[in-house]
Amino acid sequence: MTNFEPKILGILCNWCSYTGADLAGTARMKYPANMRSVRVMCSGRVDPGFIFDALRAGADGVLVCGCHPGDCHYHEGNYKCMRRIPLTKILLEDMGIDPRRLRLEWVSASEGARFQQVVTEFTEELRALGPLKLRELNFDPDHPAGGDNHVAVESAAHDELEAGH
Ligand code: FES
Repeated sequence: MTNFEPKILGILCNWCSYTGADLAGTARMKYPANMRSVRVMCSGRVDPGFIFDALRAGADGVLVCGCHPGDCHYHEGNYKCMRRIPLTKILLEDMGIDPRRLRLEWVSASEGARFQQVVTEFTEELRALGPLKLRELNFDPDHPAGGDNHVAVESAAHDELEAGH
C-alpha cells in the first residue's frame, strides 16, 4: 500500500482544538493534507453516528479532538466524549473495523505543534492499516438495510450511551 493516502475526517471542538489547528496553519507547520475538518462546539457533541456516517461515506479514519480534561467550555462535554469513544471503538471492532481507525486526542488552542504531531501520526497509522474496505465486511453503504448489522449496532450504541448518562 505504498501509494495509499487515507481520507481522514477531523471533528474538532470549536474552543480549543479548532483554534489549535488554526494556529498550526497560520504558523505554517507542515502536516499531511489528508484530513478534512468539521467544527463542533464541543467534543461532547460528537455522536457515534457521526463516526459511522463518516466511515460509511468513505473516510478511512476519524480523529476527534477536544479540550483537555478540565478545560471544556461546557464543563463536562469532553468527559462524555471520553466515555463515548471507547464504547464506539468496541462497536467498530464488533463490525470488523480496526478500532485504531478512530482516535481521540486533546489539543488546546495553544498546541499547534501538538495538532501537527497528532495528524501526522494518525495519517501514518492509517497508511499502515490501508484503506477501509467496508464491502469486504458486509457493510454495504448503498444498502443500509440489506442484511448488514450496522443499523442494529448503531441502535445498540445509542441505547448504551443513553443509559450511561
Ligand atoms: S468545549 Fe472543547 S471539549 Fe467541550
